[in-house]
Amino acid sequence: MCLSESASSQSFQPNYDEENVPDYELPDPLVMESGEAVEDAETWKTQRRPELVRLFEKHVYGKMPSPPEHLNFEEQSRDTEALGGLAVRKEVIVRFGPEEDAPQMKMLIYLPRDADKSVPMFLGLNFRGNHTVHADPGISLAQVWGRGRTARGSQPEQASEESRGNAASRWQVEMILQRGYGLATIYYGDIDPDFDDGFQNGVHPLFYQQGETHPAPDEWGSIGAWAWGLSRALDYFETDESIDQQRVAVIGHSRLGKTALWAGASDPRFALVISNNSGCGGAALSRRRFGETVGRINDSFPHWFCDNFNQYNDNEDALPVDQHELIALIAPRPVYVASAAKDLWADPRGEFLSVKHAEPVYLLLGTDGLGVEEMPKVNQPVGRKIGYHIRTGEHDVTSYDWKRYLDFADRHLRGTKE
Ligand code: GCU
Repeated sequence: MCLSESASSQSFQPNYDEENVPDYELPDPLVMESGEAVEDAETWKTQRRPELVRLFEKHVYGKMPSPPEHLNFEEQSRDTEALGGLAVRKEVIVRFGPEEDAPQMKMLIYLPRDADKSVPMFLGLNFRGNHTVHADPGISLAQVWGRGRTARGSQPEQASEESRGNAASRWQVEMILQRGYGLATIYYGDIDPDFDDGFQNGVHPLFYQQGETHPAPDEWGSIGAWAWGLSRALDYFETDESIDQQRVAVIGHSRLGKTALWAGASDPRFALVISNNSGCGGAALSRRRFGETVGRINDSFPHWFCDNFNQYNDNEDALPVDQHELIALIAPRPVYVASAAKDLWADPRGEFLSVKHAEPVYLLLGTDGLGVEEMPKVNQPVGRKIGYHIRTGEHDVTSYDWKRYLDFADRHLRGTKE
């Protein structure tokens, strides 16, 4: 957490004591709002799932618009000898309108060079620019925005050469390529800069109806916009023969883990979903109020969720959904949730309970779930169609995490197709 982001909420005292977690009752993913039980896969697919998507749209993340009419892709660079011959590196501009100066995001793509057919991919947004994921001098330097409360009204700045590869440990590019996967990443600020400016920049204004200057209370905030951008990346994959668009894993850390879950829940084209330390508003159950709470997150980051979500500040029991139902929306597709032992702010136990309580939906759909009853000890990954681990250490993405994700992807995205 950076200081400017936390400054306004200094009086907030997080609960880190399991004893003080209040009693709560979770909404049942297999009971309709009407009270009717969901007893078969068909009712889940045609009634309960759409109902839950609508509830998350209306109360948590806000509705996202359809893809823009003129979605335009332009390959801006290509190097077939990148990373010492290990990879093909491409940069693709995704423009959200027909004009040259339409809002756009730049996607960095690495593909294993010796792949003889279309490859499965990991897709994730990054925090500080594409050039931070690897020191590769061929990646163009991003224009980066400030973030948090103090960045309001700021303009993007050209990143420095020194910042190349700053976030490399979080991406493990060589490991991913050597395991036969491609990686695509986009700077999240290209889609919507991460500060509260009343949605004047980023993609929101593209979709304002006449006279509208702000999304309605049930329309997308920044997490919705970032998730929408991930779906537009998938639109591009559908046009690129070197990528297998049916085997795309969407991954994200922290706020971008919340984003990956919402993207995976709302766009069934994502074949696998990974949440790394996503916490409140991501994998963690809101009703536990352990670590970060709904009130605290809405206070610190008023632009992340839809305005309706504010109704649940210190009022979590009134939420018509909880986050285990977000995980359930991914069923029967594979989902992996990872926690870190020192990341109490993100409520590791709440993240585990969320996947556990999503399991009945996986089982109803005739597939495996988590397969364990108790939260595992540190560094003991568990799971089948739902994967989970808690590793030692801090809020971060590490090579330990990536190894687990690659093993999980091998199990679920490989096999018959290779
Ligand atoms: C803050 C915020 C979290 C978020 C994290 C991040 O700590 O409170 O909800 O996950 O930032 O995105 O780094």
